[in-house]
Amino acid sequence: MFQRLEPIQTDTILSLMAAFRADTHPQKVDLGVGVYRNERGETPVCDAVRRAEAAVLARQSTKTYVAAAGNPGFNTAMQRLVLGEAHPATSAGRVCTIQAVGGCGALRLGAELVRLASPDCAVHVSTPTWGNHVPLLSNCGLRLERYPYLDAATGGVQFAAMLAALERLPAGAVVLLHACCHNPTGADLSEAQWRQLLVLFKERSLLPFIDLAYQGLGVGVPEDAFGVRLFAAELPEVLVAVSCSKSFGLYRERTGALHVINETPAAAEAVLSRLVRIARGLYSMPPDHGAAIVAEILSHDGLRESWLQELGEMRSRIEGLRQAAVQQLAQSCPWRDFGFIARQRGMFSYLGITAEQVRELRMHHHIYMTEDSRINVVGLQGASLAYFARALAEVVRE
Ligand code: LMR
Repeated sequence: MFQRLEPIQTDTILSLMAAFRADTHPQKVDLGVGVYRNERGETPVCDAVRRAEAAVLARQSTKTYVAAAGNPGFNTAMQRLVLGEAHPATSAGRVCTIQAVGGCGALRLGAELVRLASPDCAVHVSTPTWGNHVPLLSNCGLRLERYPYLDAATGGVQFAAMLAALERLPAGAVVLLHACCHNPTGADLSEAQWRQLLVLFKERSLLPFIDLAYQGLGVGVPEDAFGVRLFAAELPEVLVAVSCSKSFGLYRERTGALHVINETPAAAEAVLSRLVRIARGLYSMPPDHGAAIVAEILSHDGLRESWLQELGEMRSRIEGLRQAAVQQLAQSCPWRDFGFIARQRGMFSYLGITAEQVRELRMHHHIYMTEDSRINVVGLQGASLAYFARALAEVVRE
């Protein structure tokens, strides 16, 4: 049976990771996968994570199953982290949460729920969006459509075009939004734009599906959840896929959650029962280790403060690297404006160079980024920044 299957290339981001690891050039620069790295180029385990992990392991007396919807302490703590301490939707019993296998698992569970409730509806994603959104959302059978998002001329959001496209959608259409640190562009919606979108979502009865994968790495923990909190308070139904990979640095522990804001507590109960059934059919129950660590951090003031401080340090470092990149590029490529890099948020920016130029950077300079010219700015540190700026100037010369 399997002899007929031809091998295919792995996902671009994953193959880029492998190619970078295999490259032995001493000056190679990794601007590929969206993983945070410190000034030594390492992705360390957060101190708060280490301490929480030690406490969890010291207390653990069994490895028996936790619960079908995952770790209840984690799920509650994640509701508070995302929605805030006393959100009206939580107080009204309108929110249900299922622990997921990372943010990807949460996206897939949400997509499966949408398909179950409305098999013919389409999910509308931004142009561009994270490459893995496509299989995660469409492999369960949902149709994917696109709306305009990035304004290539300014590096910001093409908001008027986005609104015009969303205004034409039929009631019940699902719209995938990035809560913060848009992947792959770093171009985020302002608070005023979230408010304008809310009016449109209400008028057109659209269903927001919000991907929150970088909370705390953009402007701050509450600020990055502004749109989520606003929509959850004002709309009858919202899906929120949350990842703990980047904010807690728990990448390989595959820790995430799907929150569904429902019209009524009865609907929340029904939706949770459906999600549990969907998960049971996919992987039964999620792994507990990462969730137990997050629950420990968020329920102990000392650990929480320590984590927030580490998260703030990561965020400040990203901001600093963005400023430094703009200054360096202004010197090396004065004929081209890269000022947008400092206005964008999170790990990613879109350089706006051609796939051919991206390949040239990789072949001749050992600089790795995805073909759409997305860069992870944390790779632009120390000597790498000047090296990158010189190489970029060479490939985009006037
Ligand atoms: C990325 O966008 O690089 C990260 O979210 C890692 C991944 O799985 O693609």
